[in-house]
Amino acid sequence: MKTYYITTPIYYTSGKLHIGHSYTTVAADALARFKRLTGYDVMFLTGTDEHGQKIERAANEAGKKPIEYVDGIVASIKELWELLKISNDDFLRTTEPRHIEAVQKIFKKLYDQGDIYKSKYEGWYCTPCESFWLERQLEDGNCPDCGREVEMTTEESYFFRASKYADKLIDYIKENDDFVQPSSRRNEMLNNFLLPGLEDLCVSRTSFSWGVPVTFDEGHVVYVWIDALSNYITALGYLSEDDEKLKKYWPADVQLVGKEIMRFHTITWPILLMALGLPLPKQVFGHGWLTTEGKKMSKSVGNVIDPVKLIGRYGVDAIRYFLLREVPFGSDGQYSSESLLLRTNADLANDLGNLVSRTAAMTLKYFDGVTPGEWEATEHDALIEQQGEKLHAIVSEHMDALRLPEALADIWSYIGSLNKYIDLTMPWVLAKDEANKKTLASVMYHLTEGLRIVSVLLVPFIEDTAKKIQDVLGIEDETLVDWDSIAKFGKNVCGLTVKKTAPLFPRIDVKKELSELEKIADDSDLSKKKSTPKKQEVAGVITYDEFMKVELRLGQVKEAEAIDGSDKLIKMQVDVGGETKQIVSGIREWYSANEMVGKTIVVVANLKPTKLFGTMSEGMLLAAQADGVLKLVTIDGDMKSGARVS
Ligand code: MSP
Repeated sequence: MKTYYITTPIYYTSGKLHIGHSYTTVAADALARFKRLTGYDVMFLTGTDEHGQKIERAANEAGKKPIEYVDGIVASIKELWELLKISNDDFLRTTEPRHIEAVQKIFKKLYDQGDIYKSKYEGWYCTPCESFWLERQLEDGNCPDCGREVEMTTEESYFFRASKYADKLIDYIKENDDFVQPSSRRNEMLNNFLLPGLEDLCVSRTSFSWGVPVTFDEGHVVYVWIDALSNYITALGYLSEDDEKLKKYWPADVQLVGKEIMRFHTITWPILLMALGLPLPKQVFGHGWLTTEGKKMSKSVGNVIDPVKLIGRYGVDAIRYFLLREVPFGSDGQYSSESLLLRTNADLANDLGNLVSRTAAMTLKYFDGVTPGEWEATEHDALIEQQGEKLHAIVSEHMDALRLPEALADIWSYIGSLNKYIDLTMPWVLAKDEANKKTLASVMYHLTEGLRIVSVLLVPFIEDTAKKIQDVLGIEDETLVDWDSIAKFGKNVCGLTVKKTAPLFPRIDVKKELSELEKIADDSDLSKKKSTPKKQEVAGVITYDEFMKVELRLGQVKEAEAIDGSDKLIKMQVDVGGETKQIVSGIREWYSANEMVGKTIVVVANLKPTKLFGTMSEGMLLAAQADGVLKLVTIDGDMKSGARVS
């Protein structure tokens, strides 16, 4: 059986997790579930990062022993993953003996082979980030990552010879395109960190004791990254008596991490693996952040949202769907209560929920609840069959490339086609005349079979909802819900008995709910924002992250027409990778509608939709303009629609 090993970072145990934290784990969970569904032997690992000075201090302040302090937080993290239906196969705590013993062996092995040596550390230390900085790296004397105060530290420490492996890693990254993904992050790692030269890494501390003790030098504890990063292999039994899992699953297929810890995962981690003589993970994928009002959601900014509350109010699937659909994978995504509520209403309550209840209600009304087995085709059936069959391959492709929102967009575009099919065939009109009974039968069969396909596709993302749909359709046979069964639009559902159903997702009154949320807001909500530790901003200059917020994608113009009454505007339907966006642009002076059809253009894909001349526009195209002439920005050579431009 093919294996698939996927990991999330191990979570800090210094406080409660927020909805931004849930993002990495929910995304990894969807990928793990998808691989299981498609026949892989999956190992999905998550866990907790429990050592360090910060936790030692927090425990002291709480009047607890560090282990008592972290035990409580680990329990709340595990509860959150249960609520979010996370299907991890293992959960590693860095305080477990299996991890501690292996880390001690790793440290000793590296020391014995000369990759770790003793020296003196002098530098600036940021406790919240657990990072050392050189004088020249500080920004206004503060930590360049979080902007907070740093402390001067001098102590005897062990160092890891990272510099020894730098050239080997540079070659590896250059030769293996898949290793650092998305590719924009590869250049950032090479140019900003590796090519300027690597410093050796401080890997032990003596100024605190809450860590893995170094076996051969009392007073030293293993410091941060060797302890934390090794979890990905200690969980598999590396250097233990039983390393069967290591043999089976290592190297990992995908290691998902947030972009702020990309550097440690694509530089420190591979160098550590090289020193240990182990192969590197096939891919480290750095996803963007969930932001609120443009800032990373984080406790120190004071803009966190409690996922437990959200799940309690809207249900786990609304939250999972929002996270997976709304955040472009690899870029930042904006969280707001309003966008969560609007998404839930539009996609889940309206598009999907209505389709399921209409299908069930009509089968009950017209065929006594039994999905018909004989019919006469309607002129719209072929499209429903073809689109349904294709999704098996399309969704696979998206998932293998970690394009989770695109996979959901394609599933929803099929849900849209099924709803449109009802509007076109008008079953309530067909039902008026007994002579149309067989055509009506075709409609009901196609809707039920289409929904069966949708339900199987939804399993990795929102399994509870998928199972509810299968229950409503009366699907009990396991072979009707396996992955291969949806490669063909077939007669699978004839004779099934459907059930009457309550709405899958009750419609939310957005205005009322938003004012309700205001009323019950407490410390963990947006309404009580603290001030952000600000870095100095230079007028007119934007950071890399700010630039990456603009989602530029290649789009192919499928249809174009001039807008009546305007001599400037053209309305276009643009395929941006499985999703069609309507874009209105004032280019008619330079391009005719006909000329635009078939062109590959660059589109700002995450622009807030707006109405131009009464017509909705969901994006913007890029063009250069000078001396009264306008030219479209296009691409040099062939590339598929949806490709990210950066
Ligand atoms: N303990 C380290 C990881 C060590 S791995 C060897 C750590 N922990 S963390 O708790 O701070 O973060 C865990 C994950 O949550 C990271 O992938 C991080 O990027 C992610 N997120 C934390 N805040 C986030 C957002 N606001 N948005 C998206 N992901 C976020 O880092």
